[in-house]
Amino acid sequence: MQIAVVLAGGVGTRLYPASSDAHPKQFLSFDENGSSLLSRTVQRVERVVDAVYVLTRPEYADRIPEHAPDATVITEPQGKDTGPALVYAAHRLRDVASDPVLLCVPSDHYVGRSFASAAQHAMTVAHETNQLVTLGIEPTRAATEYGYINPGENRGDHFIVDGFYEKPDPGAASRYIYNDFYWNAGVFAWTPEALLTAARNTELGPLVEALQAGNEQAGFDAVAPVSIDHAVLESTDGLRMVPTDMAWDDLGSWDALRRVLDTDENGTVTLGDVLTIDAEDCVIAAGDGNHISAVGVSDLTIAAYDGRVLVVPTAHAQRVRDVVDERDER
Ligand code: GDD
Ligand code: MG
Repeated sequence: MQIAVVLAGGVGTRLYPASSDAHPKQFLSFDENGSSLLSRTVQRVERVVDAVYVLTRPEYADRIPEHAPDATVITEPQGKDTGPALVYAAHRLRDVASDPVLLCVPSDHYVGRSFASAAQHAMTVAHETNQLVTLGIEPTRAATEYGYINPGENRGDHFIVDGFYEKPDPGAASRYIYNDFYWNAGVFAWTPEALLTAARNTELGPLVEALQAGNEQAGFDAVAPVSIDHAVLESTDGLRMVPTDMAWDDLGSWDALRRVLDTDENGTVTLGDVLTIDAEDCVIAAGDGNHISAVGVSDLTIAAYDGRVLVVPTAHAQRVRDVVDERDER
């Protein structure tokens, strides 16, 4: 049975001030018909799998049905990033059906039409090899916000990964591009058993043991927050990569909106009540009740939500995380 696990428990720090603890990015909408990123993700995967589960932390569980009425909610005991969350999902879903294969998808992505065939392919490889599988994207720039994959041995329809490097510094990212590495799309396929086996040999091992012993809360109390990428994918042997040429972007930061949304004749993206005169290559977003006017500016992101205003050169969009840390505004 093919089961989607939609990850919807993150906060989305780099989309401050639109996103916050109270308004995490999966509930935000950036399209004209007002669908949230989460509801678009669920609609996309519903067509590909037999059942859809949405995985979230306790604080957001009540809000999921509004965005995903037909999905089943799995609530991890505590938000500790994607490593503990995905181990928890594998534990909960291991006996839900015979022969389950999980397709784990983030809820902050823009993807093109070939998502369905790439996802099917990844699930088939996960089923046949009983290894962890991730989708790989050909990079277009030396991004530091993604994981990089050295594809290794070519097995025809997939690669046996030779190295996984999460969020490198700019120098390393440039080297990886030069060496034809792929981006990790953050879309994974595995059987629950394969993930639990791989996680057992990592810092998530004690959590796996605790879950199996029925001590869910104690296991989550003890585990440190860690992403699945750092905890498992960087260290696991036998990781497989299915390359895909689907259109893809992570809508995790303001600069991504300029790559994905329609721009005006000056290359600027506007959201909400925004007036621009000669604003070039900007992202300008006004939340409810805000009006932004921008004249003669270029390469800037300006965002106003809930009494908070952000101004940052779009090229520095990844540094928005630092503002949130400094202000401790989560
Ligand atoms: N349930 C749950 N619990 N979900 C979470 C949690 C949590 O504690 N933390 C984050 N998520 C969800 C987010 O809501 C998002 O949908 C997804 O997990 C991925 O988290 P991000 O925080 O957006 O990860 P990232 O973009 O920095 O990095 C990942 O994705 C990149 C591609 O988009 C990594 O897998 C990178 O290697 C990859 O390149
Ligand atoms: Mg992301």
